[in-house]
Amino acid sequence: MHTRMLAVTLMIAVPVLSAGCSKKVSFKADIMPIFEEKCLRCHDGSGEGSEKSDFSVLNYEIVMKGTKFGKVVVPGDSNSSTLYRLISHKAHPKVQMPPHHDESLASKKLESLPQNEIDTIKNWIDQGAKNN
Ligand code: HEC
Repeated sequence: MHTRMLAVTLMIAVPVLSAGCSKKVSFKADIMPIFEEKCLRCHDGSGEGSEKSDFSVLNYEIVMKGTKFGKVVVPGDSNSSTLYRLISHKAHPKVQMPPHHDESLASKKLESLPQNEIDTIKNWIDQGAKNN
């Protein structure tokens, strides 16, 4: 019975805790795993995404360097950050990331990020896009 109560408590507490934007996001523990799973295959320095845009997600410094046209992360301001705009459907379908739209220019197509991952990246940028 104790196990069940614990399970019920967790079911209520966990979503409440993770919903607030005050939750501290860690680049290493929260952001890098998303990049590795969802972006690295094309942005590993030689993949399709890296070749076309010069953007790679190999490590923090490289992410912050951005593309050949400039930075894609503006610390503290997700809405001005190209990276956030591309994953949160605020950009043209041709350039949304990961490429998932029929109009996408990329040859490979994948799924859009789930909302919780989009929010995690947003919170990381708004908390200063730190290498933490
Ligand atoms: C299937 C391959 C693929 C995957 C997976 C992918 N990208 Fe891309 N990405 C591309 C391509 C191709 C481009 C070049 C833009 C274009 O012309 O379509 C690009 C461009 C970009 C750019 C530069 C856009 C600009 O304004 O120059 C950013 C930033 C980016 N991707 C971020 C990401 C992020 C973050 C992820 C993971 C959530 C991701 N990409 C996943 C293929 C991919």
